[in-house]
Amino acid sequence: MLNIKNKKFYPKGRDTRDSDVLEIKELIDHLPLKRDMLIEFLHLIQDKYNQIRKKHLAALATLLKIPMAEAFEVATFYAHFDVIEDEDKSLPPTTIRVCDSLTCELFGAKDLMKKLNSKLDKNKVRVIRAPCMGLCDKAPACEVGHNHLEKFSLKDVENALLKNEVHPKEIGGISFEEYIANDGYKILTKCYEGKISVEEVIDELDKSGLKGMGGAGFPSGQKWKFVRMEKAPRLMTINGDEGEPGTFKDKLYLETNMHKFFEGMLIAAWAVEAKKIYIYMRDEYPGIIKKMKKELNKLQNSKIIGNEIKIYLRRGAGAYICGEESAMIESIEGKRGLPRHKPPFVSKIGLFGKPTLNHNIETVYWVRDILEKGHKWYSNQGKNGHKGPHSYSVSGRVKEPGVKLAPAGITMNELLNEYCGGMQDGHNFFGYLPGGASGGILPAEKADIPLDFGSLEKHGCFIGSGAIVVFSHKDSIKSVVLNLLKFFNDESCGQCTPCRVGTEKAVKLLEKNIWDEKLLRELVDTMSESSICGLGQAAGNPITCSLNYFKDRL
Ligand SMILES: Cc1cc2nc3c(=O)[nH]c(=O)nc-3n(C[C@H](O)[C@H](O)[C@H](O)COP(=O)(O)O)c2cc1C
Ligand code: SF4
Ligand code: FES
Repeated sequence: MLNIKNKKFYPKGRDTRDSDVLEIKELIDHLPLKRDMLIEFLHLIQDKYNQIRKKHLAALATLLKIPMAEAFEVATFYAHFDVIEDEDKSLPPTTIRVCDSLTCELFGAKDLMKKLNSKLDKNKVRVIRAPCMGLCDKAPACEVGHNHLEKFSLKDVENALLKNEVHPKEIGGISFEEYIANDGYKILTKCYEGKISVEEVIDELDKSGLKGMGGAGFPSGQKWKFVRMEKAPRLMTINGDEGEPGTFKDKLYLETNMHKFFEGMLIAAWAVEAKKIYIYMRDEYPGIIKKMKKELNKLQNSKIIGNEIKIYLRRGAGAYICGEESAMIESIEGKRGLPRHKPPFVSKIGLFGKPTLNHNIETVYWVRDILEKGHKWYSNQGKNGHKGPHSYSVSGRVKEPGVKLAPAGITMNELLNEYCGGMQDGHNFFGYLPGGASGGILPAEKADIPLDFGSLEKHGCFIGSGAIVVFSHKDSIKSVVLNLLKFFNDESCGQCTPCRVGTEKAVKLLEKNIWDEKLLRELVDTMSESSICGLGQAAGNPITCSLNYFKDRL
């Protein structure tokens, strides 16, 4: 055994070989040996060996002085870790993940998956299904290794494999130098120099009406005030998980102007006096992660921010539930992403038990503009009594899908005709998802409702992260609902019975030719009333909406 200083320690659950421990030690040696780094270490193992053999997991557990069971439960929770037995055959060198979330399914993902499975050599590639990759406006999408292919065909995949194009594509966008040349970080510097007070900043945010863009729509200024009321030290987290099927707005803002996001994030951290910021990025955006590391490095070496501010970048590992803020915090702590019971809210007891300001990427992205151009610049962009611009990620049967920055409160009819070029030829507008998988489904007759927080609720829906998926008379509503429930069933963390068993049961009931309405409604009520978090509470929305609005098509 290795000579481990703490004599009381012994590797519970499994013996380890010195050579394995040394191998893993070498691999992770450049990072601090801390328990909360577990997921980062698992990534290093998965990246290097293309799988995680149990001997390596045991070696990691030994180094971290945690039971093997703890390392195992974390590694097997996340879809991007492949834990295998020591004696198992190695996995094929390349993994192809085919998105089978709603928009990609509408554009033929199932057929493509079948084709790939039958045509490709199983010894060389492994084809698996995966949830939304944020490429819904270019559906169908897949990932060959870490290379994302848009509107792909079998030929595209074969070509990528032939040329060994398995790495993420370069991300463009404004660089640190360009950002600085355009008055970048000036507002932050004003804050640091005391030329503008925290109270003034919060007041501007309050008046602008900036709300949380991660889905809940909580007023941002209010949130900063709540966190400031808690005892220091306080922390900040950034939610870059963007997992709601149909959402790709954070991706766009990171790809085009990452530093505007950094500046807003740093102003928020300054306002709540958080010295440590943890950015949690979804693993599905490898190109962005790569660029973010580079740009963060430049920023941290630039002296714009003091040495006392530390920014940590953490990589998710393929679990939608880690977008729920308390699950994300668990994940940053190196655990399974199980949502916590609330209260206490994360603003009181958050990361590492400290009061935490958590924000979605887009929310803080707007902070610089609001402070530079004034609250009215932001609030005046709304319509129908709503404030601000809203980033709608639009996909599905529209002519021009993409992120549409439109007035908050715009209706679906307006968005479709004025921003998306109308419906694709041969498709009649039949219905839409106003808020991704969780936000319910509405028929075309209800396309005159303002698309914003607070206006869709009376119709049993919500805007969430603004993921609009449009479908037509050629699409089957039953297949739409089944696709969404399969997603929730896959992504339920399994912590509470109504959601774990309920989503599974719902899929079975929806797969039947004739739906049992009474039983389905009962199941949805149970899930929404007794699930711990938003996933289970909202998972039944597509069922209820389809029963309420599309009965003649079921
Ligand atoms: C199941 C579930 C998934 C979520 N996924 C995300 C996500 O991917 N990104 C995000 O910013 N917020 C997500 N949220 C919302 C977060 O819990 C939280 O409200 C948000 O990060 C707060 O930041 P904001 O105030 O800036 O919106 C999710 C919530 C639930 C219940
Ligand atoms: S509702 Fe679902 S996802 Fe949320 S805690 Fe319960 S089992 Fe986990
Ligand atoms: S990338 Fe396939 S649905 Fe979003």
